[in-house]
Amino acid sequence: MTEPLKIAIAGLGTVGAGTLDLLTRNSDLLTRRCGRPFAVTAVSARDRRRDRGVSIAEYEWHDDPVGMAAGADADVVVELIGGSDGVAKAVVERALAAGRHVVTANKALMAIHGTDLAQAAETAGVSLAYEAAVAGGIPIVKAMREGLAANSIVRVYGILNGTCNYILSDMRESGRAFEEVLAEAQALGYAEADPAFDVDGVDAAHKLAILTSIAFGCEVDFDGVHCEGIRHVSPDDIAYADELGYRIKLLGIASMKDGGIEQRVHPCMVRRELPIAHVEGVLNAVVATGNFVEDTVYEGRGAGAGPTASAVVADIVDIACGRSIPTFAVPAADLRQLPAVPLDRHRGEYYVRLRVLDVPGVIADVAAALRDERISMEAMIQRGHSPDNIVPVVLITHETEEVAMMRALARIDALDTVVEPPRMIRIEAL
Ligand SMILES: NC(=O)c1ccc[n+]([C@@H]2O[C@H](COP(=O)([O-])OP(=O)(O)OC[C@H]3O[C@@H](n4cnc5c(N)ncnc54)[C@H](OP(=O)(O)O)[C@@H]3O)[C@@H](O)[C@H]2O)c1
Repeated sequence: MTEPLKIAIAGLGTVGAGTLDLLTRNSDLLTRRCGRPFAVTAVSARDRRRDRGVSIAEYEWHDDPVGMAAGADADVVVELIGGSDGVAKAVVERALAAGRHVVTANKALMAIHGTDLAQAAETAGVSLAYEAAVAGGIPIVKAMREGLAANSIVRVYGILNGTCNYILSDMRESGRAFEEVLAEAQALGYAEADPAFDVDGVDAAHKLAILTSIAFGCEVDFDGVHCEGIRHVSPDDIAYADELGYRIKLLGIASMKDGGIEQRVHPCMVRRELPIAHVEGVLNAVVATGNFVEDTVYEGRGAGAGPTASAVVADIVDIACGRSIPTFAVPAADLRQLPAVPLDRHRGEYYVRLRVLDVPGVIADVAAALRDERISMEAMIQRGHSPDNIVPVVLITHETEEVAMMRALARIDALDTVVEPPRMIRIEAL
């Protein structure tokens, strides 16, 4: 029998324990597929005594995961600790420097240090694999780097955060407010105790930055991602979207524009007929468009022990079989440095919701602010009276430039008759 592939695992939480479980339960299948067995030789986490639902008694224990990365008897170091810096980064750097292959699920690390780590892996002549870092169980890294290798990618977009998609789906079905649904998601374990990374769009932005690099062969530029979350989406917005034939989704969208890259994460209104509008709950979806293949669509679970372990072990299988592809599809030295295109130059239609005093002249003032920026209205909804004399007004614009829209919104916000900041959601034609 061929020598086993020796694996050291740093981090035994949700994903680490799931990975051990998969390696154990699918051991025979994996051996047949790779022509060699897998052997976990060493593990590390903070608390050796914690019950993880899987046995770790047979593996060499390390209190120090960084020491393990270079010192353990391993061909592959699997980093499942998390965080863009600190221990996780040290584990990956040390493993690469020691000539070990690295598999990680760490999107924060890859989004912020991906280019340097890709260079380090190439210098060491080893793989740096990260399928689990983007959209969990969906094999989107493999699909884009290998399945779509013949295409020039035109655009990539998707629902990249299951927590946000769960919250938005529940808000639509139940009519409940963001805070209430978030609290319930936290109680059920679908959202973190500190939900900021998810609901403020940062987690989706990490994943988009990685996808952008693969799609366009450029250095990973997390700072170039325009990022807005879902805290401001209200049940009213969701109800109006429904009335107008849209659904609200948090999308990450990347495309080439004017010789640079536009990367943005924000709530979008998408036509109800589009497939992505029907990706609900914790599911993720990615649409990658190639110049020959056209649209390709991938959907599945973006998180959880099983789906994420599936992606981690798929990377280990590649290493066991000797399959290796540059980290971001082209050699690190050839990754392009492309400028970030600011969102000011974005063009699209906009949904705007206002709360205004129900007095004569208010609509004329709002219309004047739009007219002065050459923004024309496609639709307006204004109905009803309320006891407090404050009524909602909803506008849909024709296509316009973001910078003009922002100027108009600032002017509308300053009107005495507009009683709270205007809420704006971009409409995506897709
Ligand atoms: N959870 C998901 O569904 C999911 C999906 C896709 C990607 N990911 C990514 O996968 C990675 C792991 O996520 P997770 O959900 O499995 O996290 P987790 O449940 O919080 O587990 C983290 C693990 O790292 C260990 N750890 C933390 N600090 C350490 C240190 N200084 N030294 C040694 N071990 C340390 C912890 O040890 P103790 O157990 O002893 O505390 C724990 O076992 C992250 O990068 C995350 O973004 C997660």
